[in-house]
Amino acid sequence: MKMPDAQSHRLCFLIFVCVFRLGTAAEVSVWNVEINSTQDAVFRKTLYANTTIFMKFQGDPASCDRNLAFNISWYLRSSVCYNEVFNTPDNKAMNMFGMDHMLKDGWSGFYSQGYMYFDNCSSLFLPKVYYTDFNPYQPLTSPKSDPSNQSLIWPDKPDISAVAKAWEDSPYLFIVKVQPLFRGLEDEDIGAEQQLNFAFTMKVEMKGQHDYSSPADWPLMMFFMVMCIVYVFFGALWLFWFACYWRDLLRIQFWIGAVIILGMLEKAVFYSEYQSIRYKGDYVQGAVIFAELLSALKRSLARILVLIVSLGYGIVKPRLGTTVHRLVAVGILYLLFSSVEGVLRVTGGFYGTVALVANLSLSLIDSCVM
Ligand SMILES: *[C@@H]1O[C@H](CO)[C@@H](O)[C@H](O)[C@H]1NC(C)=O
Ligand SMILES: *[C@@H]1O[C@H](CO)[C@@H](O)[C@H](O)[C@H]1NC(C)=O
Ligand SMILES: *[C@@H]1O[C@H](CO)[C@@H](O)[C@H](O)[C@H]1NC(C)=O
Ligand SMILES: *[C@@H]1O[C@H](CO)[C@@H](O)[C@H](O)[C@H]1NC(C)=O
Ligand SMILES: *[C@@H]1O[C@H](CO)[C@@H](O)[C@H](O)[C@H]1NC(C)=O
Repeated sequence: MKMPDAQSHRLCFLIFVCVFRLGTAAEVSVWNVEINSTQDAVFRKTLYANTTIFMKFQGDPASCDRNLAFNISWYLRSSVCYNEVFNTPDNKAMNMFGMDHMLKDGWSGFYSQGYMYFDNCSSLFLPKVYYTDFNPYQPLTSPKSDPSNQSLIWPDKPDISAVAKAWEDSPYLFIVKVQPLFRGLEDEDIGAEQQLNFAFTMKVEMKGQHDYSSPADWPLMMFFMVMCIVYVFFGALWLFWFACYWRDLLRIQFWIGAVIILGMLEKAVFYSEYQSIRYKGDYVQGAVIFAELLSALKRSLARILVLIVSLGYGIVKPRLGTTVHRLVAVGILYLLFSSVEGVLRVTGGFYGTVALVANLSLSLIDSCVM
């Protein structure tokens, strides 16, 4: 059976994103940005097709100049190139605003753009339907050729606060420019350099078929759920055998129990984080760090376990003697480096020197253990 093209493309994308992103922090889906001057903001996320992007503005109308109008313009761009979206620094990404061509030949994608004009702050803070129709989207043209006039339209109507919709499963770059415009009376003695006085919160949300979960996080959530169930199953099996053979249990079997419990706990915490992403669009960083530390502890214990078993402790040898020191040293080193690596990974410092050192040390210790 042959899969339809769109379907297989979708599957490839999902697999690619999951493999590529295994081991980076989960994607946030709700952002609150404080705006108090002319400002640009860049948001990056992988989105499912038909995910809707919402923008809301919240603030106190009293803290806002009466003579201010706002032009809030946005630009949404998809690209087949993951790095174009996720590893372009903000200042370079800003230059892509309004761009209708690919950065390089073959980095194809689509774009859409639009703006919203607000007469004053009260109208900015009022929830409303911004557009009668979603703005059409267009394919990016290759750098050399002329811009195409092909544009694709949406059949459905936008909801309250909806700005744009994603057209395919892909990484997206969403750029917002906030421009306050002064439309005061000229004869009032307000200099042109007068500070524009305003402050509000811009809330950007991306919600699709799996709520706030992105194509990168959804399969991971499923993975953690399945693993949690597997560990619960292992735990039950362990308890069952424990009950049957508790008379002749070897001490080493308690290590196995500990590793199973830690693994269960770790997967449960990760799963709950991805659930939180799904329903709230955000996660508690403390909990993710806790899960990473649990995971580090579990992996260290598992490695010591393998070593102990290979040394025959509790099976053919009653005591380990002096090798205990070496075992403990290996365990602590492994715990240290994997904790550092895990914490750096979820806090976003994955590409630094410390992370590199931690990673190399981990690989070294691992190969020694093997
Ligand atoms: C805008 O807010 C930031 C912090 O939120 C502050 O540092 C900055 O001075 C503010 N700018 C103006 C023009 O009020
Ligand atoms: C997206 O929505 C359109 C119409 O609203 C529908 O025809 C299309 O099948 C949807 N695509 C996906 C992938 O759900
Ligand atoms: C708002 O800004 C966009 C580009 O940033 C521009 O194309 C549009 O004409 C502006 N609208 C108004 C009403 O000034
Ligand atoms: C704000 O603008 C809206 C129309 O855009 C107008 O109806 C309303 O009266 C204005 N409010 C103030 C306080 O000027
Ligand atoms: C672009 O416009 C020209 C003339 O306006 C038309 O002949 C051509 O078919 C259009 N191309 C596409 C892809 O719609």
